[in-house]
Amino acid sequence: MKKTIVNLCRLVLATVFILSGFVKAVDPIGTQYKIEDYLQAMNLGAWLPDAGALILSVVISATEFCIGIFLLFAIRRRLCSHLAVIIMALMTPLTLWLALTNPISDCGCFGDAVVLTNWQTFWKNVVLLAAAIVVMKWPTKMVRFVSESNQWIVVNYSLIFTLVISAWSLYDRPQFDFRPYHVGTDLRTGWMQMMEGQESPYADFFIERMDNGEDITEEVLNNEGYTFLLVAPYLEQADDSQLDLINQVYEYAQEYDYPFYGLTASGEKAINLWRDLTGADYPFCQTDGTTLKTVIRSNPGLILLKDGVVIQKWSHNLLPNEQELEKPLEESTLGKMPDDTVGKRIVRILLWFVLPLMLLTIADRLWAWTKWIRRHKKLISYINKKEVKMRKKIVAGNWKMNMNLQDGIALAKELNETLKAEKPNCGVVICTPFIHLASIAQFLDQNIIGLGAENCADKEKGAFTGEVSAEMVKSTGAQYVILGHSERREYYKETPEILKEKVLLAQKNDLKVIFCIGESLEEREAGKQNEVVKAELEGSVFNLSEEDFRKIVIAYEPIWAIGTGKTATAEQAEEIHAYIRSIIAEKYGQAVADDTTILYGGSCKASNAPELFAKPDIDGGLIGGASLKAADFKGIIDAFK
Ligand code: 13P
Repeated sequence: MKKTIVNLCRLVLATVFILSGFVKAVDPIGTQYKIEDYLQAMNLGAWLPDAGALILSVVISATEFCIGIFLLFAIRRRLCSHLAVIIMALMTPLTLWLALTNPISDCGCFGDAVVLTNWQTFWKNVVLLAAAIVVMKWPTKMVRFVSESNQWIVVNYSLIFTLVISAWSLYDRPQFDFRPYHVGTDLRTGWMQMMEGQESPYADFFIERMDNGEDITEEVLNNEGYTFLLVAPYLEQADDSQLDLINQVYEYAQEYDYPFYGLTASGEKAINLWRDLTGADYPFCQTDGTTLKTVIRSNPGLILLKDGVVIQKWSHNLLPNEQELEKPLEESTLGKMPDDTVGKRIVRILLWFVLPLMLLTIADRLWAWTKWIRRHKKLISYINKKEVKMRKKIVAGNWKMNMNLQDGIALAKELNETLKAEKPNCGVVICTPFIHLASIAQFLDQNIIGLGAENCADKEKGAFTGEVSAEMVKSTGAQYVILGHSERREYYKETPEILKEKVLLAQKNDLKVIFCIGESLEEREAGKQNEVVKAELEGSVFNLSEEDFRKIVIAYEPIWAIGTGKTATAEQAEEIHAYIRSIIAEKYGQAVADDTTILYGGSCKASNAPELFAKPDIDGGLIGGASLKAADFKGIIDAFK
């Protein structure tokens, strides 16, 4: 149930982030305008130059898109879910402010593709924030669509894809145009409807002559045949690198008698400057600046109307060239609406982005599946051929510094009775403080429950006040001893050399050693867990002969999971257990590795033990907190039923 909810939330978040990142990436200039609107609404307009807002626009779209893709594939699950919460926690109050004060009518979350009211946006964000919190709480419940070793392909491909889309949209025009001036729009009809009083997006669309202020919108839109409109919202900022091509198009329009107008929101001075600079003598008309920015995301850009319908749009970087202007529009492809439909463009995106990632996912999953099958087949064939004896499964309790003598005896008695009445399906051990050992050994049925200490000295005997030697432990009747626990390493500064001595002395006294290894949180976050456990084994037990090593039980206990309630996921634990087994195989051979019992420890409870112990390389647990109550401990032992 929990898994289903987390995965549903994750898919909702992923879809929204991908969609909102993508529509922003296809229109970086539109997103830049939106950012500037926001800054202006907060009186911070002067704070960021245009170029800064444009860079921010690309960064925001790439971040949203990549977080969406990473959530979809379950890549860097913890990091992405935290980022999603941070983003939503910032956006939700911001959109509440927008909804309450209304300084901007459209939040711009989805560019021009989906326009929401400010209250709709706020409630949408509340839902997304809740979904992000759910995902952040249980990030590892997200099912992976690509294995960790191959995820770098998705990461790099998505980042490159979104940056290329942004760059291409900047160079050309938005690859998907959601505005009411896209190719195919019948401006004439739209404008007429507006004039008849119907609701229309063309309320601010007008064309006024500069010389006498006459409104010629109707005349321009009603012109039968072709009309060129050179759109430059602000001439002062217009790109002047393609002036020759613009002039060429103008000369072409004159040659074939096509009307050609320059539309701008700039004043006389800027127009005259532009004329001086370019030698342009086409007529300039006045239009609303914001409308012109909506008409084409290029300053300047060129539009071709036919009978009032937008049939072509060119950015200043991709204006028609000399060869294309050889024939009149009636006879050339320039005069026809390109058959590059939205459908075709969507197919292109599917082919270039979705298909490769889908193929990668299929290949990756097949690879993971065959790996799993191969491993299981090997295991089954081993078992069938009885090539290996199944290694021992153990659930061991580590009482640590808990329980006075009376309480400890009572707990051991209760366990003894319970397990005598209902025989466990695994080895059971309890490791108690020294003072309990002799008393408990008197009544414990050690055929069912092994008894062990939590430590022993690194010296054989002598003047070491307060220490308890391995021989003393053995003399109580105990059979086991825990060595190398992270608490002893950390609080009592037990080094690998000291532990090496302790292991030797314990074995000399016929004690079975449960040897603990495990990494800290920082080490895991730095990806050093394998290095750490390897060094701990090499430092204290890899010096043993094969015969002696066979007597050791390993306990992998990630320090960040001990007593914290944070269990390593079954997958995380299995991954490192398999690694530990592989390095034992490297050192002592596969047969020894196959026989070595490797326990997991760290917030192990009756609720998570079955999933952990079901993993092929996890042979039981070393239990702290949950070994202090007979019922809890029994719940874990029952995982082997
Ligand atoms: P918890 O089970 O309390 O996390 O302790 C694990 C442990 O340290 C066992 O040795």
